[in-house]
Amino acid sequence: MTGDAGQPSGEVVVELERLCVEVAAEASRFIRDERPDRVRVAQTKSTETDVVTLMDTASERLIHERLLAARPDDGILGEEGADVAGSSGLTWVVDPIDGTVNYLYDIPAYAVSIAVVTGDVSVAGGWTVVAGAVADPSRRVVHHARRGGGSWTVAEGEGPDSRTGRALHVSDETLLARTLLATGFGYAAETRARQAEVMTRVLPAVRDIRRIGSAALDLVRVAEGTVDAYAEAGLNPWDLAAGWLLVEEAGGVVTGTGRHPGKELTVAAPPSLVDEVKALFVG
Ligand code: IPD
Repeated sequence: MTGDAGQPSGEVVVELERLCVEVAAEASRFIRDERPDRVRVAQTKSTETDVVTLMDTASERLIHERLLAARPDDGILGEEGADVAGSSGLTWVVDPIDGTVNYLYDIPAYAVSIAVVTGDVSVAGGWTVVAGAVADPSRRVVHHARRGGGSWTVAEGEGPDSRTGRALHVSDETLLARTLLATGFGYAAETRARQAEVMTRVLPAVRDIRRIGSAALDLVRVAEGTVDAYAEAGLNPWDLAAGWLLVEEAGGVVTGTGRHPGKELTVAAPPSLVDEVKALFVG
């Protein structure tokens, strides 16, 4: 199944992308159409405000069932923790609802993010995204990419090769002062205090900031050029995996404090802006 350096063959990658799109679309319909009038918090994680709803868990269960039925030898790493060790060298990195706080409050900016990667996801810089999809239930679309295949948006329910698919391209902005920058903040108070300090450098330097509340959708917006750039510290692999590939395949650069995005920092921007945006966040 695998070709050079443990990477899956072209044919397999096409099938992996198709599976990302199909499963993300199904989970997207599920969390939108089955959303209870009052979403309940099932548990909290890192802080009182870092919540898991019953729908996060149900969406994760649905995604796992579909992925394991189609790819029983692959591993799964999910935000809500029901991880599966695999033997194929491929791992699915899943966020069943990214933007859970928006979902809780019925703010239409949440997503399902599914990516398939090679390498060791627990090692920063030790893994590569092969294919991914971010479904946006509110816009009823799925954004998808496979390495070397470009970044695309299709209507929810369409396959990755839909004739009505739209190719994504990052913004052509070149000036930091005109940059609309998406960002986000962690759940822990001390992390937020540090992030607020960084904002004192960022806000005077850019056009404005947006705090959309879903890292996956922030990355989609960079890929489609509906914000110019995005930067945030504290992301986990499931927040960024699919969006990382979407941005790269749309002509952008995704980086961190080193070469790879991760917990310390994730920066996504057109090549013309990436160094300046990163410098603002590194200080
Ligand atoms: C969060 C969102 C948010 C970002 C946080 C993430 P969750 O993911 O992506 O925009 O600022 O860093 O943890 O908790 O909604 O899945």
